Parts: sequence; structure tokens; C-alpha cells
Amino acid sequence: MKNSDNNKRIPLNIPYLKGGEKKYILECIKSNWVSSVGPFVQEFEKKFSSYLECNYAVACSSGTAALHLALLSTGIKKNDLVLVSDLTFIASVNVIRYVNAEPILIDASQNSWQIDVKILENFLEQNCYLNGKYCYLKKNKKRVFAVLAVHILGYAANISKIKFLCKKFKLKLIEDAAESLGAKYNSKYIGTFGEAGCFSFNGNKTITTGSGGMLVTNSKNIARLAKHLSQQAKSNNNQLSHNMIGYNYRMSNIHAALGLAQLKELNQILKKKKSIASFYYKNLVLYKDISFAEHYKNTISSNWLITININTKKIKLKLDEIVNKLLFKGITTRKLWQPMHLSEPHKKSKYITTNNVSNALYKTCLSLPSSASLSKSDQIKVINTFKKVISLNEKS
Ligand SMILES: Cc1ncc(COP(=O)(O)O)c(C=O)c1O
Repeated sequence: MKNSDNNKRIPLNIPYLKGGEKKYILECIKSNWVSSVGPFVQEFEKKFSSYLECNYAVACSSGTAALHLALLSTGIKKNDLVLVSDLTFIASVNVIRYVNAEPILIDASQNSWQIDVKILENFLEQNCYLNGKYCYLKKNKKRVFAVLAVHILGYAANISKIKFLCKKFKLKLIEDAAESLGAKYNSKYIGTFGEAGCFSFNGNKTITTGSGGMLVTNSKNIARLAKHLSQQAKSNNNQLSHNMIGYNYRMSNIHAALGLAQLKELNQILKKKKSIASFYYKNLVLYKDISFAEHYKNTISSNWLITININTKKIKLKLDEIVNKLLFKGITTRKLWQPMHLSEPHKKSKYITTNNVSNALYKTCLSLPSSASLSKSDQIKVINTFKKVISLNEKS
């Protein structure tokens, strides 16, 4: 769609590249280390795990690859069940199918928009039982292997409660923290609470390597197996023999070079995003047809995509109309993902809900331009244009 004026469009969330990346990339070219063998991969893993204050990090070709490796290296088996957020990007659920396991989709919470821990708890209490080391579903005796908890939009899910439930029901905890690098609960980084945590460095993420991901863990065994599987499961002493079916999920030296430069900017990016989020909040919280997600106590958000919930019924505009009107004015916004229980590949999966919250949020939530480089004048333009488009009324 063309803009109504010739101004350049305000993007949703673009990389924050400050120039330090060039030095690292040139170093790859000068040294001829451009592929997956090269010193930056290890250095990026080391610096990333040290930033997150955890023991190990395994660099991967994408966040999806990291999630796939997390399931494999924590010991998932065919036909296992995995409890996962219904309101998420599809990769979180696809990886469960990659390993021939079954997702059980858990609805979102009305207040936080994250996986609803009350529904999760009720499901486990009423439908599952423990036998020896594992948890099983009463109905068909299938093993319930893990909770794959997604921290959406940069906010933290109720990770203390999820961890408590995983411990009680002997489940592995895998965190999909693709969108939440830098978020914290009780001063501890999101992604470091379970057996494994996964991050994405896709172009629209908090930091980017172009494309890439990271698995983090405190377990030496999980880290070793994930690394092994990511490089075609080569046998130790013979590079051309293989002892398992592995994958080509390695990160290249060039991608890691970008990652190292970006890691240096991470605190600055988080600081800028925090200030952008506060400014949106201050300017939009006054309006009765707008609401924000509630953050869990003692959490800090990374403000990946700053998102609002619009009372679309009251303002008599559909979300798609708002997106299109804003785009016409040169402002890029985005709806949430189609909930997984409605998606073509996962609509036959079991979906646990009480009020179908993910459906409602899908129809009413809008992510606003959230780039760390968003200027104050552009942000004011976003706010003013948005107010005009939906004719907001202040709370009385
Ligand atoms: C919640 C979530 N999980 C997983 C992924 C997959 O990451 P990637 O695109 O790096 O494979 C993404 C991002 O795209 C995501 O937002």
C-alpha cells in the first residue's frame, strides 16, 4: 500500500546496527574464517552465557533450530506430550511435531497474555498422574514430557509458577525466550529457569545476527548433546563418521561476528526500548478503550514489541482496518499471531481453555513501532496518528 504522503514509513522493529558490526565482519573476511568453523562462534557462546549468567550456550542457525535441539537434547521421545502456549509464533509448536511428539495447547491469560498458569495447573491436577520418574495423561497413558513456555512480546511469563508445576509433575521446562532477551524475573534472566532456554537472533529480534539462535542451559550433558546434534553428530575422532542422525544447525563465523557486535549494544537497546515503552504507556494509558498487558510481580520486560489491547467493539473498527489506516499514514503496526488452535497445521491438536482468551486477544491486540532507533518525533507521530485514526476518548 502507498503512503498518503511521501514521508518514509515508520517500521515496526528494525535492527539497531551502530557500526561496530563492520569491524567484526571484516575480520572474518580478512582471516578467511567465514563458515561454521571460526573463533567468533565460541566467543559469542561464551559471552552470551556469561551475559545471561548461565553455564553453557550453543549457537545455532535459528531460534527454531535451538528449540528443536532443546527437545532432542532433553530426551523427548516419539508420542510424548508437550504443554505449550497457544498464543505464540508457530515455530514453538512446529518443533514439537518435528520430533513426532504431540502439543497440548494452553490458552493465554486475560491479564498477562502469557500462558495461563491456572489452566496449566488445573489440567495437570485433573488429567495427569505420576508414576516413577514421569508424568502421564490419564486418558491414554502417554508420557507428558515437558512444558514449553513461551515468553511472548518481550514480557516474562509466570515462570516461578511454571517452574513449580514442572517440579511437582516431574516435567522438563523448556523456555522459548526468542522474544524476551534481557527480560528478568527476580533479577534472574528469562531463559535460564529450566533445562534449556532458546533465543532468536532473527532480523526483528532484540539483537540480530541476520538469522540465528542460541540454546542456553546449565547442564553439561544437554549442552554437549545439543552441540553434537547441531553439527551432524560427528564421531569424536573421525570427522567423516557419524554416530547419530544430526542436523546442520550450526551458526557461521560471520553470523557470530554480528552477534558479538550486537551483544555490546544489548544494554543500550534495552534502555532505549524501556524509554519508548514508558512513553507509549504514559500517552495511551489515559484512554478507556486501550489497555496494556499486566506484568507479573518482580519481572522486568525487554519490551520487544510494545503492544496494546484495543476495545475494537467500542470504537467500531476492526483491527485490520486500523492496521491498514495506519499503514496508509506511513506507520507499520502488526497484529498478534493467529492462535495455534486455529492454525491449519495445529488445529487438530488438543486445546485447553476456559474462555478462549487467545482468540479475543488475536482480534484486539496491536503491536506498535518498537525499534530501539525510533526517534521521539516519530513516536509522537505514531501516537497522534493512532489517536486520530481511532478517535480515542479519555477515561472519565
Ligand atoms: C516465540 C518465538 N519462537 C520461536 C521463534 C523462531 O525463531 P527464528 O525465526 O530465529 O527461527 C520466534 C521468532 O521468529 C518467536 O517469536
